Amino acid sequence: MPDVKAYFRSPNTVARWWRPETSTYRHLYERELALVRRDLRSSTPASLLDISCGYGRLLVTLPADMRAIGLDISAEMLKLSRQNAPGRPLVCADAERLPFADQSFASITCLMSLVHFPRPDRVIQEACRVLVPGGFLIADIDNERSLGRAVKGIAKYVGSRSGVAMNSRGEGIFRTYTEETFCRMLIAAGFVVQHVDHIGFFPSTSIAFSGRRERHFLPGELSRLLSPLDGVLSRLPLARRWTTYVYARARKPENLREIGAAR
Ligand SMILES: C[S@@+](CC[C@H](N)C(=O)[O-])C[C@H]1O[C@@H](n2cnc3c(N)ncnc32)[C@H](O)[C@@H]1O
Repeated sequence: MPDVKAYFRSPNTVARWWRPETSTYRHLYERELALVRRDLRSSTPASLLDISCGYGRLLVTLPADMRAIGLDISAEMLKLSRQNAPGRPLVCADAERLPFADQSFASITCLMSLVHFPRPDRVIQEACRVLVPGGFLIADIDNERSLGRAVKGIAKYVGSRSGVAMNSRGEGIFRTYTEETFCRMLIAAGFVVQHVDHIGFFPSTSIAFSGRRERHFLPGELSRLLSPLDGVLSRLPLARRWTTYVYARARKPENLREIGAAR
């Protein structure tokens, strides 16, 4: 595995490819932000830390009177954040070592980023440390069991049988997790998982064989047109195992009784 942190610290890396707002699959990211808005509305936290805030995609949507801080390892992303969300405090740091005292925040978000950390378990533990008791973490992962991954697996197999290698662009800086592993990491850090949502049954997977043009399994437009079905499919126990992203809201318990009740 390459030095992932060095990659994200370097200019001309993530800022070049992370463009969810102009992506043809932006409906998936809009759905994610809608879930965040729902979860923030339900308890209106006094303060928020956005771990790996990127170019400020979430920060720009927060109410001006909410105390919110963005943190990212990439100075380049923070520069974009500063332009997009002027006035928000920003910190350049590694999410595995949060430069904040214990119990500093009422809520934490970590969107589309856990999959890039060499040790996501450490980041989740750090999030738990800097949250006040009763505070909550919102985070998501790319689902190892998604329909898109399955399609990619089949394409890789067929390609290797016919002697055509598949481009593995991005695979060194990115990992997928199952919903169970994700929830286990949250629980091991001391969180109680309050709810899990599933985003994007119809995948945005692209497949590229060496020397050939990248192809999308489903054209973005079609994936978007089918997205109203996501809501239905994500409620069906079998189908929801296959969604592209798994999103969770987890609470840091206030007392031992709460931990016991959750077990
Ligand atoms: C795919 S982007 C997501 C950005 C933002 N959360 C969003 O949803 O738009 C991943 C972000 O994680 C940041 N990142 C990667 N490794 C990090 C680390 N160890 N500590 C802090 N940020 C990190 C990258 O610089 C990048 O901004």
